[in-house]
Formats: sequence, structure tokens, C-alpha cells
Amino acid sequence: MEQRTFGNIGIDVSDIGFGAWAIGALGDVSSEDAKAALNAALDAGVTFIDTADVYGDGRSEKLIAEVLKQRGGARPFVATKAGRRLSPHIASGYTRDNLTAFVERSLANLETECLDLVQLHCPPPEIYYQPEVFGYMDDLVAAGNIRHYGVSVEKVEEALKAIEYPNVKSIQIIFNIFRQRPTTLFLAEAKRRDVAVIARVPLASGLLTGKMSAQTSFAADDHRAFNRNGEAFDVGETFSGVPYEVALAVVEKIRKLVPEGIPMAQFALRWILMDSGVTTVIPGAKNVIQAKSNSAASDLPALSLQTMDELRKIYLQDIAPYVHHRW
Ligand SMILES: NC(=O)c1ccc[n+]([C@@H]2O[C@H](COP(=O)([O-])OP(=O)(O)OC[C@H]3O[C@@H](n4cnc5c(N)ncnc54)[C@H](OP(=O)(O)O)[C@@H]3O)[C@@H](O)[C@H]2O)c1
Repeated sequence: MEQRTFGNIGIDVSDIGFGAWAIGALGDVSSEDAKAALNAALDAGVTFIDTADVYGDGRSEKLIAEVLKQRGGARPFVATKAGRRLSPHIASGYTRDNLTAFVERSLANLETECLDLVQLHCPPPEIYYQPEVFGYMDDLVAAGNIRHYGVSVEKVEEALKAIEYPNVKSIQIIFNIFRQRPTTLFLAEAKRRDVAVIARVPLASGLLTGKMSAQTSFAADDHRAFNRNGEAFDVGETFSGVPYEVALAVVEKIRKLVPEGIPMAQFALRWILMDSGVTTVIPGAKNVIQAKSNSAASDLPALSLQTMDELRKIYLQDIAPYVHHRW
């Protein structure tokens, strides 16, 4: 498993990480399957886990704690998130007291003395212009509750604003074959400032595995059923904001570029790793087979320049009109 340096904090992490939303909250993944998936990723050499206090209302964090306790040994780097427990999720809720309470709950769920990384969880746009909120996070670092903090963002513009705060150590952003705008400015700028980049939703919620069709159905409690039009949260989180039928047609064009013998999911993950501005990619695996296959993407050879060009053309022609101006 290849390693990349996580911004300027002096730690290397695996370039393929583990996104723990699916095991905590998506559809009905049993605790046994969830723990087996995480164990498979860790066995394959994954050293970076992404979770959030709201995934399964703490279930994801607790499952991670259980697995790490059972395994013992060196702990992987565990990134969690805070802010989305606010209801309504509004800027005035980002107070010192609330953030401290969220962090204390994650400390208990993850059974640790100090959180490796806490990301503000797609905060309302006003937050990016409220330095005092970043000051509360600085104070949580000073108090020893958290080692580092970062921001999980929706838009490239938010990412560019967030990295102006000197102690923001990481940005989590949607970056995949269907979301190419981060390549134009943000990734280079993050690299220049030594800010780590966590690429989320790398498979466009599973579309870029090539396994979905017009007939695919999803459980009622899966966001791919209930958030297709942004009913519950930003529509960009579901299928990367690309209309489902459009995406299916484009997946068929991409399929032609995937070398024989390589699963499309691995190809899609390797595309993300082609940008050296990315620190780690966090596919959300639900079972052992997915976790093993995703981890193997780390060892794939680089994609050819011709393939990269083709994927850029497909994006600009078929996908950009739906997403480029929005995120
Ligand atoms: N606001 C935020 O900060 C935010 C928002 C969203 C996600 N995230 C983070 O990003 C991570 C990844 O995002 P995501 O889980 O939404 O999307 P994703 O990684 O693009 O897609 C994950 C889904 O694809 C399918 N899959 C995964 N690996 C596969 C494989 N090898 N072969 C076939 N199917 C596979 C699984 O669903 P099925 O098997 O059911 O098809 C899985 O739930 C999350 O776990 C979370 O940590 C953060």
C-alpha cells in the first residue's frame, strides 16, 4: 500500500483510506459485516479511516473503536467530523460549547484521549467568514482534546477559503471522474500550502463501479433512494450530483477505457491518485470483497496520458454542464 504525507503534520497515511459512512449508516449493513469490512481494509494496509459523529448517530465511531480495540497494536489515523448534530444545522449553532460537546461525545465513542483530526462537517457558508469558530478549534487543540482540525467542504470556493486559515490541516472534498473541478486550481493550491486533501465519494456513490443500471434499487433508508434531488442534504453528495440516467450513459463510455482484468472501481480510484495534490482517497466499502478490492487500487500502475485525456474530454462534454458551476 502506497503512503502519502498528510499535509504538514509529519504523518504518512495510506493513499487508499476507508470511508466509514456506509458501515455506520447506509442501508442495512450488519455489525459483523461492518467490522469485517474494516478489518479487511486494515489487513490490506489501510492506515486512514474517515468517520463522523452523525454516521448512524455514533454507530460508525463505536464500531471503529471496537475493531481497533480488538486488533490492538498501532492505531490508524482516525478522522471524524463535527457540526451536523446541530438541528437545525445553522451557523449560530457553531458555538464553543456545542463544538466542545460534540468533540467530547466523539472522544467517548472512539474510546480515545485525543482525536487525531476533527473536520467541520460541511458547515454553512457563513462559517468560513467567522474566524472565531476556527479559534474554538484552536482552543480544542490547545486543550489536548484534538490533535488537528480540518474542514469537509461542498464547494471548491469553500475549500479555497478554508485553507486561508493557517491551522486548517486538511480539506475533504468530493473528487472523482465526475467531479474534476478541484484539478483546475484547488489541488495545486492545497499542495502549495501543505494542506492534506481527503478525496471523498470517489466512486460517485457506487456509479463508478460500473455495476448500476436503470433497474438498480436501493433501501428506503439509503440516501441513493431518498436524496436523489437533495431532499435531505446537498444533492452533490448523492451520485456526485449527476442525474442518474445521464451518469449511467457516461459510465458506458468510461467502461471502454478500463483495461481488461481491472475492476472499474479500482480504475476510478487510481484516476484520483493520479493527482499528487490528493493525500488519501476514502471509498466507502460495505463488505470484505469491496474493502479488499478498493485497497488494491493503491498498487495499480499509473493510467496512461491518453486515458487521462479521454476521461477529461468525457467529463467536459457530458458531465461538466451538470456539476462544474455548482461545486
Ligand atoms: N459531507 C461529508 O463529509 C461526507 C459526505 C459523504 C461521504 N463522506 C465520506 O466519504 C466516504 C465515501 O463516500 P460514499 O460512501 O458516499 O461514496 P463512494 O465511496 O463513492 O461509494 C460507496 C458505495 O459504493 C459501493 N462500493 C464501494 N466499493 C465497491 C466496490 N469495490 N465494488 C462495488 N461496489 C462498491 C458501496 O455501495 P453498494 O454496495 O450498496 O452499491 C458503497 O456504499 C464515506 O464513507 C464518508 O467517510 C463524507
